[in-house]
This record gives sequence, structure tokens and C-alpha cells, in this order.
Amino acid sequence: MSTFPDDFVWGAATASYQVEGAVAEDGRGPSIWDTFAHTPGRILDGTNGDVADDHYHRYADDIRLLADLGLKAYRFSIAWPRVVPTGSGPANQAGLDFYRRLAETCLEHGVTPYATLYHWDLPQPLEDAGGWLVRDTAERFRDYAALTQTALSDVISHWMTLNEPWCSAFLGYGNGEHAPGRTEGADALKAVHHLLLGHGLALQEIKTTGNSVGIALNPAPVHPASTSDADRDAARRIDGLRNRIFLEPLLLGKYPQDVLEDTGTTQWFEQFDADLPVISGPLDFLGVNYYCPSTVAAPEGPISAPGRPTTQPGSENVVAVDTGLAKTQMGWPIQPSGLRDILQAINDLAPELPLYVTENGSAYPDELTADGTVEDVERQQYLEQHVAISAEVVAAGLPLKGYFAWTLLDNFEWAWGYSRRFGLVHVDYATQERTVKHSALWLKGFLAR
Ligand code: FCB
Repeated sequence: MSTFPDDFVWGAATASYQVEGAVAEDGRGPSIWDTFAHTPGRILDGTNGDVADDHYHRYADDIRLLADLGLKAYRFSIAWPRVVPTGSGPANQAGLDFYRRLAETCLEHGVTPYATLYHWDLPQPLEDAGGWLVRDTAERFRDYAALTQTALSDVISHWMTLNEPWCSAFLGYGNGEHAPGRTEGADALKAVHHLLLGHGLALQEIKTTGNSVGIALNPAPVHPASTSDADRDAARRIDGLRNRIFLEPLLLGKYPQDVLEDTGTTQWFEQFDADLPVISGPLDFLGVNYYCPSTVAAPEGPISAPGRPTTQPGSENVVAVDTGLAKTQMGWPIQPSGLRDILQAINDLAPELPLYVTENGSAYPDELTADGTVEDVERQQYLEQHVAISAEVVAAGLPLKGYFAWTLLDNFEWAWGYSRRFGLVHVDYATQERTVKHSALWLKGFLAR
């Protein structure tokens, strides 16, 4: 059986727009996800986050559920448009009060709150003014971060600036699958830089309080489908865009030259030298959201592979290759050892840096049976395998400090709407009834032992 040190942190994660609902309450302003989800054709099942899990009103019950499982940490995100409804200007006290209540409820249950400042819900007025393609957004993010520190640093001592800036930049401004749904080609690299700058500026604000601060990335091992030069070059390019363009400025204070060349952005990036010391400010930890590895090829000639053509700059002519691994409902191949590989790769870059798995989980078409159970055998297996790898990583001496399951509750899975369930706890969206799944009961038993 896997063993962990006593101080290893066990938690579950959620994100504001995916669970809160109450989008027009207590002064919250609209975010890019409100706009996007309400645009016909953007969300697979035509749904939105207006109600979601109604976590805004049910948070106390949900935290009790989390604590009942034996989890000791809750990673949630703060909705920027609740705290600063238009993205700039003074704080909305009612928004801050909600997160104070949420954090205090965690503490009452012996659960440590881990707050993420940006899990993708950019205030719409900031998008209207250019979004992450303009520098001003990074500065507004700093102001927002500062407001949260003044108001909440006494009850929340663990902070993450951004969640998965890869998604914000490349799905938001590259292929348009996520809000704001723009397809800006190589300009998506501007979003990368402004997100990272926003991270660095927010980090400075959080540091002033003495609290612990990190960032949650979604790095993944990238393998070439064959040993051909073309496939290896495809893997280099995708590794650059997925991993190195974030890890190197954060950990080494430089952008990877090959990626800037691949994307034709070298000249544009020359102006940013002065930002790199801000971006590479000392992290207290790095969060890794891990779901699956990727295997890529660069076939000759026009791409005829099924699926969407890739519009990500620098990834021209690259296709994802199916290597025959079992997949989750998302179509994501299951390879638990990939978690070890990516944690090791990050540890090689920054040997002392504490690491957390800040998200890991799987979607399956769960069935709530008549007797009120969800026997999610596959999710349990996925969880067991990734927990086992985490134990191996700790045993190998890497500074892995915690594991957060994605996710506490079935929720609004972005462009997939409510059609994909990742929760440890099943949610009946018509009644808001919660049912603890078997995978969660396995976890509870494991933690009790
Ligand atoms: C991650 C996101 C999270 C959730 C999972 C499945 O990319 O951070 O909100 O959607 O994927």
C-alpha cells in the first residue's frame, strides 16, 4: 500500500465559474465565461454556469462533505468579477465577504483553504479593453491581487496566482475553444507574456503578507510518435508551447528562444527583458495539474487526421497520435507514470522547489443507481493509480507536498458543459442533490488508513 508522510496535504479542487452559480448576486459583474457560455454554439450542450452547483449558497454543506471524506485542504478559486466587478476600481465588499465566509468555514472544519486568484473568469470589461493581449490587464490583475491580500490574507495563507495559463492563452486566444473565443494566431503569445507578468506582479503583492504563493500549470510529457526527425521536431515544438514557455520564464527567468522562433515572435519579445525578473520572482511552490501525456507526429503533406486542425501558433502540421492507451470519457489517454515524468522534469529544473499535484482526475459517464450509489470503478482505479505514483515520487525523494483531486463536485466542464462528470461527489443538477461516489469512499478509506 502507498504510504505518505503525515504532513502530506490531501485536498480537492474546484473553480469559481464551474461551481458557484449566483452569477448576478451581490454585485458580481460579468466575466468572459458568462459571455462565452451564453453565445450559441460555444458550449457542447448549450448550457452555462448561471446556476452550476449553486456552491455560492451551498458552500458550507460542500465543505462539510469534503471534510467528511478526510480531506484537509480545499483548493477553490476566487472570481475576479465578484471582487472587482468591472475589473478595475474599488473592491466589492460583498464579494470579499463571500470568500471570507468560505475560508472561515474551511478553517472551522480543520480544512486549509488554498485560493487561486484566476481560474479563467476575466471581468468582461477588461476583455473589451483588449483582454490578455494587452499589458494593462496584467496591471489590473496586480491591483485585484492586492485587494484580496488586504481583505483575506489573515484567513487564507496559501495562494495560487493563475490556473493553467496555457488554456487561457492558447484555448482563449489561439484556437478559440475557451472564452473569450478568439483566434489570434501568434498573438496568443502576447497573452502568454501578459499572464505571466500578471502572475509576477500578483506574486509580489502576496509576498508582502508573508503568505505562501505559487502558480498552477498544466505541464505534460510530450513524446514523439516515432524517431523520425519530423516527429521529434513536432515533440520539441509542442513541449516548448505546452511546458517550456511557462516553466523557463518562471523558473529560469528566460523565454525559450526556439519557441519564439517557431512562432515568429522573437522581435516582439525583445521588449520584455525587464519583466523577466518580475515573472521569475521566487515561488513558494509550483502546482501541477496532470491528466495525461501527449504523443505527437508531423505527417508529411496536408493533415487528414480526424479531429480539428490545430491553430496553435508553432504547432502547424502537428497531430496528436493515439498510442492505444485506455482513455477517459474526455478521450484523454491514461498514463499514471506521466505524472512522475513531469514532476521529475520540473524537479530537474528547480531541485528545491516544493511541488503539489493541484489537479488530477477523470471523467466517466457515471450512473446514479436507484439505490442512490455511483459505482465509478474506473475513476477509482484512475485515482488509485495516480495516488500510487505520487507515493513513488515522494519515496524517490522529490519534494511533492500534496495532492488535490479534481474535483470535489461534478460541475460545468467549460466547453463540454455538464456533459462530463469529474466529481468525487455526484450532483443531480435538477435537484442539487449530492451523492458521494464510490471513488470518494475509496479515498476516504485510504486516508483513514
Ligand atoms: C483543467 C481545468 C479544470 C478542469 C479540468 C478537467 O484543465 O483547470 O478547471 O476543467 O481541466
